[in-house]
Amino acid sequence: MSVSISKIVQALEPSATLAMAAKARELKAAGKKVYDFSVGEPDFNTPEHICQAATRAMAAGHTHYTASGGIQELRTAVAKAYQARHGLEYSPAQVVVSNGAKHSLHNAFTVLCDPGDEVIIPAPYWVSYAELVKLTGAKPVIVETEEANDFKLTPGKLRAAITPKTKILLLCSPSNPTGSMYTPEDLGALADVVQEKNLVVISDEIYERLIYGDNKFASFATVRPGLIERTITINGVSKAYAMTGWRIGWTLAPLAISKAMDSLQSQETSNPSSVSQYAALAAIEGPQQCVDDMLKHFAERREYVRHRIAELPNLSCPNMGGAFYAFINIQAHLGRDYAGKRVNNSADWCLELLAQQGVATVMGSAFGAEGYARLSFATNLETLAKGFEGIEAFLKS
Ligand SMILES: Cc1ncc(COP(=O)(O)O)c(C=O)c1O
Repeated sequence: MSVSISKIVQALEPSATLAMAAKARELKAAGKKVYDFSVGEPDFNTPEHICQAATRAMAAGHTHYTASGGIQELRTAVAKAYQARHGLEYSPAQVVVSNGAKHSLHNAFTVLCDPGDEVIIPAPYWVSYAELVKLTGAKPVIVETEEANDFKLTPGKLRAAITPKTKILLLCSPSNPTGSMYTPEDLGALADVVQEKNLVVISDEIYERLIYGDNKFASFATVRPGLIERTITINGVSKAYAMTGWRIGWTLAPLAISKAMDSLQSQETSNPSSVSQYAALAAIEGPQQCVDDMLKHFAERREYVRHRIAELPNLSCPNMGGAFYAFINIQAHLGRDYAGKRVNNSADWCLELLAQQGVATVMGSAFGAEGYARLSFATNLETLAKGFEGIEAFLKS
């Protein structure tokens, strides 16, 4: 019997970042030395006090189903944190806790999109957005941005992409994959178009706590009065607290949307892991020094990466205001041979760099921007130094 896979799932692109990481792992298993800059996850272990909270939760018997949208304590703690950091007023019922921010995004798109609706996604974009939109039957509308403007969507480009079918604008700041950030003024100018055209914004703020230097983070819902009524904010503990494996993310949204997401989640997955929820609660309510300590390391690595990119011939990257990615312009290095192998595009370049030097990055084409390679600098300085030696040797080959 031949079983056919549904058309909607057949149309999905597998995650390119995970595919590159799998290739890197394969080479490692075959005994090759690999410097892996493909996956966006902090190399630090989850801080000790958070792990201990999880152990205490298990000992206390918090190993059962919880309310589908998360334990009351965590929803309250998230709401309080937004009050304290951004002055935003949310009730705990407006917070839905899910299995990582990716799940939160899936919930948001699923409860808002009908087939035929359009979702505007500025490119370069994180690999999962377009695929999650497609799963709902809605249409991702990709809008290109300019490196000269740090890959930020402008109000003009937004306006030009809006049609009568446009329902949602997706924003991600600080950005994966570019590391660039919208200023509060940039967001305000976009918000004016959003309000005029009656759009909903899904604002992915997962890198909110990883901001460098004088860059100012603004939560989208704060930049104009009334935006809170049309914004779904996405966040979680994965990046700020080095908790990628615990799978806790959340949404903050108008009550009707939160209720719909809670209802969807109650049928699809039930609650996220009870133990992880207690760990996330400890992360949010506990000492925040661990976030600052990790940020210091990321800032050092960012400086190093910036310096090495500037040193190498004909490479550039946008201003990295936050997150832990360098989106490197490799256009000057395409269309030639590397040790006898022709390299025409970013996929060729990343695959040859991995094959020849054991350096794993992700091709820009996976993020909707040909001619770039994304390097995650969530790895230690020694590994970064080795990786850049490999990139340098590759460019000279
Ligand atoms: C921009 C962005 N949003 C969401 C996520 C998903 O985070 P989580 O691991 O909490 O699902 C990631 C992870 O790479 C990300 O880069």
